[in-house]
Amino acid sequence: MQPGVVILILKVAVIAVTVLWIGSLIALASGNTKLHGRINIAFFSLTLAALLGLEVLVRLISPGLFDNYQHHAENAMLLHLIFSVPSAVLLFVMLFTGLKQQRQLHIAGGILFSVLWTGTFITGIFFLRHELP
Ligand code: HEM
Repeated sequence: MQPGVVILILKVAVIAVTVLWIGSLIALASGNTKLHGRINIAFFSLTLAALLGLEVLVRLISPGLFDNYQHHAENAMLLHLIFSVPSAVLLFVMLFTGLKQQRQLHIAGGILFSVLWTGTFITGIFFLRHELP
């Protein structure tokens, strides 16, 4: 598989889960906290599945797949990872604090998560080029 194809698949996945996440915020704003929680459990599971799939691909199935790509797009990839790695870690905190109803931590985390996810989205969709070799 070409690295560009993998990047394109991940872009579609990120757009899809972002639509879900925005839906969860609309549910929250409408006062439907239960729906917000349910949508975000799906958001968490799908995002983690995509991340795990990517890790299995680049570590086990095709190590070195992105070697050449990274050479072409080192800065864009680094910038993307600065946002995406912390947001992946924060996802666990968000799920836990949401389920445990630790409201203040959850809301504070939510503000940080929104910044990090927006950065992940912008750098992933617009900065990483899927047409590179
Ligand atoms: C901008 C981001 C977010 C904000 C502002 C936000 C805000 C909230 C608020 C105010 C509640 C109600 C808490 C309570 O009454 O104790 C809640 C519940 C919840 N949130 Fe979030 N949240 C955000 C993102 C997330 C994310 C990313 C996840 C999961 C990965 C998540 C999972 C949950 C869950 C599971 C609940 C519990 C729902 C229930 O009680 O049935 N939230 N959230």
